[in-house]
Amino acid sequence: MSIAPLRERPAWRALERHYTEIRDVHLRDLFADDPARGERLAAEGASLYLDYSKNRVTDETLRLLVQLAEESGLPERTEAMFRGDRINVSENRSVLHVALRLPKGKSLVVDGRDVVQDVHGVLDRMAKFADRVRSGEWKGHTGKPIANVVNIGIGGSDLGPVMAYEALRHYSRRDLTFRFVSNVDSADFVEATGDLSADETLFVVASKTFTTLETMTNARTAREWALAALDDESAIAKHFVAVSTNAEAVAAFGIDPANMFGFWDWVGGRYSLASAIGLSTMIAVGPDRFRELLAGFHALDEHFRETPLERNLPALHGLLCVWYASFFGAETVGVMPYSHYLKRLPAYLQQLTMESNGKQVTLDGRPVDYETGAVFWGEPGTNGQHSFFQLLHQGTRLIPVDLIGFAKPLEPIRDHHDLLMSNVFAQAEALAFGRSEDEVRSEEVDEQIVPHRVFEGNRPTNVLLAEQLTPHTLGALVAFYEHSVFTQGTVWEIDSFDQWGVELGKVLAQRIVPELESEAVPELAHDSSTNALIRRYRAMR
Ligand code: F6P
Repeated sequence: MSIAPLRERPAWRALERHYTEIRDVHLRDLFADDPARGERLAAEGASLYLDYSKNRVTDETLRLLVQLAEESGLPERTEAMFRGDRINVSENRSVLHVALRLPKGKSLVVDGRDVVQDVHGVLDRMAKFADRVRSGEWKGHTGKPIANVVNIGIGGSDLGPVMAYEALRHYSRRDLTFRFVSNVDSADFVEATGDLSADETLFVVASKTFTTLETMTNARTAREWALAALDDESAIAKHFVAVSTNAEAVAAFGIDPANMFGFWDWVGGRYSLASAIGLSTMIAVGPDRFRELLAGFHALDEHFRETPLERNLPALHGLLCVWYASFFGAETVGVMPYSHYLKRLPAYLQQLTMESNGKQVTLDGRPVDYETGAVFWGEPGTNGQHSFFQLLHQGTRLIPVDLIGFAKPLEPIRDHHDLLMSNVFAQAEALAFGRSEDEVRSEEVDEQIVPHRVFEGNRPTNVLLAEQLTPHTLGALVAFYEHSVFTQGTVWEIDSFDQWGVELGKVLAQRIVPELESEAVPELAHDSSTNALIRRYRAMR
């Protein structure tokens, strides 16, 4: 199927015209004109309920956005992804994180191999290992069971594990301590390990490439830290396991390949939570709960693949992101989970969304002439309400917000949960409908204060509800955002699966390292600012 450049697609042109008609329409009027709107503009699937009625859209907007998805080849590209086609064109790779979640017994043959068998082979090994650690059968060098698990990784090899660990903490083994070290700043390692005994600590070195500077530096420091206490090279086999696609580098580091859990180049770092990168999560919650997580991912994968776009949760969400970014010029999207367990979800979603869709050229290398991925950010509710929500309500920028809530609390105490959830509904209501001048005046406010107390409203939200935060719901929630990102990338015709933008900084840092470390004063050939900063650093330290 040949796809026209975005601006030439009929639906895009129609949306440009439509935008001029709708940009000033207020949500108050949209709701007043259609009493059923709140129930009509909602969709359900894979245990998630999405209320998207408080978006600045009409039925016509939605019809055109769906048409845009079709003209952009979303159904065909979705099939191509699920089939294992090399849709990551700039790296010439398949994009098969969805295969990580296929149940045992299914089959997906890519390049002559049934990848589902490979996936379950690794999952079974992980489960055996996780059970041995959890039961105390796996012993450290001095014969003590493992009490602490430290995941060393960065980016997708950190954010997935730490986000999922925090999210599923309710289900995790409380007698095991979990820590996550990512930053090359030594403070991260020191603070994570300062109170741990080496003979009870297991390091999971998680790196797809096993070459990442931060992870390799922290892994070497961990090795020294362990050896300083255990004083025997053979202890490494008991205290280090690796998760990687690079068996050679793992062996070169000194980790027994028997203690390596593999995955494949068709799993992007930020899409790797469901792979062996989830090992620390599996140790924390156990193999059965981890399989529930995979089932949640899979349920949403199936929903995305099979549901018509009009009722397809991630497709609708992705199209709304396009609508605000490309037409309203919204530069950011806020994601506010009203669950303290999801406190690392915004950080996780930042990598997922921004490393995926922060792109400036199309799949065939043409510069784009429209806005692509927005800045994603957020904090758990209700905390954010007492800091930056001011700007969401009365600032000059349009910031679409996702509010995520659960019907049943995991820790029911007094009326905490109703208080929490009342804020989800109240924020969505306040952002949409605001408070008019007349309403403010009716409260007999001093006339001078009236403008300060007006909320213009018309600020869009999506509310995502699920029954409870379970491994299954978490999997569905992550897959929801993954496929939303995919939908956006497909419309924008960009490669959501490469990340060349992270390379330049890495290369330049490697060049600067010897200039900082050398005893002799180095000859500097950077720009005058970089030269001056390096000289100042050398003088100050
Ligand atoms: O530098 C960016 C990045 O490549 C991410 O895409 C990735 O998740 C992270 O670094 C870590 O990479 P690795 O798992 O290979 O150590």
